[in-house]
Amino acid sequence: MRVLVTGGAGFIGSHIVEAALAAGHEVAVLDNLSTGHRENVPSAARLFEVDLRDRDATAAAVAEFRPEAVSHQAAQASVPNSVRDPHTDAQVNVIGGLNLLDACTKAGASVERLVFASTGGAIYGEVPESTSASESTPPNPQSPYAIHKSTFEQLLGVYRQHRGLKSTVLRYANVYGPRQDPFGEAGVVAIFIDSVLAGREIFINGRSREGDDGCVRDYVYVSDVARLNLMTLSGAVADSVVNVGTGVGVSTHELAAAIVKLSQREVALRGRPPRIGDLERSVLDSTRTKRYLGDTVKLAEGLAHTLASYAARPGSGSGSRAG
Ligand SMILES: NC(=O)c1ccc[n+]([C@@H]2O[C@H](COP(=O)([O-])OP(=O)(O)OC[C@H]3O[C@@H](n4cnc5c(N)ncnc54)[C@H](O)[C@@H]3O)[C@@H](O)[C@H]2O)c1
Repeated sequence: MRVLVTGGAGFIGSHIVEAALAAGHEVAVLDNLSTGHRENVPSAARLFEVDLRDRDATAAAVAEFRPEAVSHQAAQASVPNSVRDPHTDAQVNVIGGLNLLDACTKAGASVERLVFASTGGAIYGEVPESTSASESTPPNPQSPYAIHKSTFEQLLGVYRQHRGLKSTVLRYANVYGPRQDPFGEAGVVAIFIDSVLAGREIFINGRSREGDDGCVRDYVYVSDVARLNLMTLSGAVADSVVNVGTGVGVSTHELAAAIVKLSQREVALRGRPPRIGDLERSVLDSTRTKRYLGDTVKLAEGLAHTLASYAARPGSGSGSRAG
């Protein structure tokens, strides 16, 4: 199958590219390399260096590669950035996405199925204590990022109804694993591992006050996300919306302590005041994830793989870049 991965030079997209190549598919990447990296794209995959906001260039890339399946991962993927600059978030995550959908539904296009990377971590808003958000929980998006992801989910329904494009929405929890960028504001696992390897103290943003255990999140390992993408691309997933998570809530303090323990280094954990706009608790109902994937990677195992991959990077532990 010919598979196009938008955002395939980024963290999650590059794992999907690898999984698709390993499964024997012909793979191309469409990416503007804004947060992704050329070196994340395996040489066996073709790279279209294209910005989704460029409607003609997007149409030309899709027309040239003629994908049969599309995994749409490209995005402005930072919640704080979306609050600072909602216009750019809308241009990339809504208009850029529409340019892709138009390209995929042009006369003569060969796309049979599209998978969309949505957000389980942000779309449901606060998830009350002792509960988890299922696919039927009404979305309650509270940031431009989550609002635009939710909007695009609804646009997919319109393209299904009026242009016959089959699509599946995967709502990811907090994804972690090798190649996640520690140099931004997202990706707490990457940020903590970077600190540990550089011997720097770890700061834990409070949940409701400085010094508490921090916010609660559902951490899912990137190989599980890639695996579910591949199954969906090949038509093995019947549901139109699927949460991708573990159903396990982990506090920031628990996460930091687990990383420090695995690293066998002495690093101090320090509290910071809560960050404005952070959800206090987000945990996904993982019934559908498990229906398709069976067991998911346990946190300790995923963190160990991630730590090992960061430790093996050239220059790791130098602390030369700001975290
Ligand atoms: N990481 C998470 O925990 C998480 C959680 C929920 C949803 N998601 C979603 O998963 C997807 C992948 O996220 P990620 O964590 O790998 O982020 P990432 O920033 O590593 O990857 C995004 C990729 O999209 C590319 N891109 C950005 N704007 C583009 C544009 N205008 N045109 C073409 N390419 C563009 C970037 O260069 C990058 O390679 C995103 O859609 C994100 O919203 C991620």
